[in-house]
Amino acid sequence: TRLTPFVDPLPRPQVLRPKAGETLHIAMRESEQRLHRELAPTRLWTYGNSMPGPTIEARSGEAVQVEWSNQLPHKHFLPIDHHVCGAEPDQPEVRGVVHVHGARVPPADDGYPTDWFVPGQSRKQAYPNRQDAATLWYHDHTMGIERLNLYAGLFGMYLLRDEHELSLGLPDGDFELPLVLTDRLLTEHGQLHYPTSGVSDAPWVPEVFGNAMLVNGALMPRLDVQAQRYRFRVLNAANGRFFRLSLRGLRPFVQIGSDQGLLAAPVQQTSLVLAPGERADLIVDFAAMGGSAIELMNDSLPLMQFKVASGKVADASRVPSTLREVPRVAEAHATTTRVLTIDEYADCVSTPMLMLLDGKHWHEPVSEKPKLGSTEIWSLVNLTEDTHPIHLHLVRFQILDRQPFDVDEYLESKTLRYTGPAQPPPAHEAGWKDTAQVYPGMVTRYIITFEGYTGRYVWHCHLLEHASNEMMRPFEVVA
Ligand code: C2O
Ligand code: CU
Repeated sequence: TRLTPFVDPLPRPQVLRPKAGETLHIAMRESEQRLHRELAPTRLWTYGNSMPGPTIEARSGEAVQVEWSNQLPHKHFLPIDHHVCGAEPDQPEVRGVVHVHGARVPPADDGYPTDWFVPGQSRKQAYPNRQDAATLWYHDHTMGIERLNLYAGLFGMYLLRDEHELSLGLPDGDFELPLVLTDRLLTEHGQLHYPTSGVSDAPWVPEVFGNAMLVNGALMPRLDVQAQRYRFRVLNAANGRFFRLSLRGLRPFVQIGSDQGLLAAPVQQTSLVLAPGERADLIVDFAAMGGSAIELMNDSLPLMQFKVASGKVADASRVPSTLREVPRVAEAHATTTRVLTIDEYADCVSTPMLMLLDGKHWHEPVSEKPKLGSTEIWSLVNLTEDTHPIHLHLVRFQILDRQPFDVDEYLESKTLRYTGPAQPPPAHEAGWKDTAQVYPGMVTRYIITFEGYTGRYVWHCHLLEHASNEMMRPFEVVA
């Protein structure tokens, strides 16, 4: 079926602005939502009855608490694979636990994958917000089924603001919006379809790509804009799809921030690849486009349309040429270097494919134990043929560089022979990150200071099918 493009307005998730110390109550519930006016309502599982859930807006330094309650049904509506670690047949089918991605929080409030709770239960989590302004987001993180829970609709935005950012004069109010990108496979009747392997008791698949691209939960929506600057907080919340974003005709736009807040200076872009879990803070100036329309594209497919009003407006916003100090963390600062592989095992006996971090399963003893306050280099040696977006909880990091190496030689003799020079990150990846693209055939080095709290956290691939099948490991910050 062909749906009429650009007829539905872009949904704007409800904004919750808790006061310092206030507790928000957000429930996970089954709900229905029209993804397009020509489709029947789609069954979803959401936070606060919408996909994306409400946007939480907090201030740096002001703590917030959320009581997350699980009011979901007792049966899952997507195919659970009981062979997957953490989803064994003796586990309750429906479980949930919430993680604020990119937040520096104590371990008990981080949404550890095994801290799940079942329908009828809730969990109160505290967010100290002791970190710089950033585009964060929250989503389910339940051991063994997070891919299904996110696919069902359990995610939302969490924006953290601070005085410095507010003083810059960036577009705000009506001129600042989240753009949450996802893709889904929809049936003819507009219902979610989650693909399966074909093996009836082992339905896990290594990746999922949808036929419907959604922006803020809508298919090909339209946003009516004024002929002025807008600020878009773009999030890739898809399970497995990388978005290659551009404006039609490769019109330039400006990137001012990445995962963990503002870049040092604005970066002019004509396209941008966002992996699952990554965020980009973008400025688009529609001033020269009055009376016309322009599409936001993913490769050659339009995701949504901006319809620009004719008529000049007085644009009060600014984009300063210096945004924030982002000092490069010096390599010499690191006291430990860890070489960690990213591996793939094709084993047709048990599962069709298995991807691991450093060859270790989830249940093996914790091997990464950084000291609180110390700086480490994590050298991620990607032996697979795919890019994996690797994310660490608790911390922010910088990409030091990426360097090509001989994979076959490494597989044979475990020797790392570089085949080209190390490439420093491009300007838009040179800010603070919490998730980065680890390219195939390259060693990607993160430099990380373990600030915040001691205790157990996780690091994992943000391709959710990988993460929920052992491409996730604990790490422990020690005193
Ligand atoms: Cu976006 Cu471990 O999470
Ligand atoms: Cu992966």
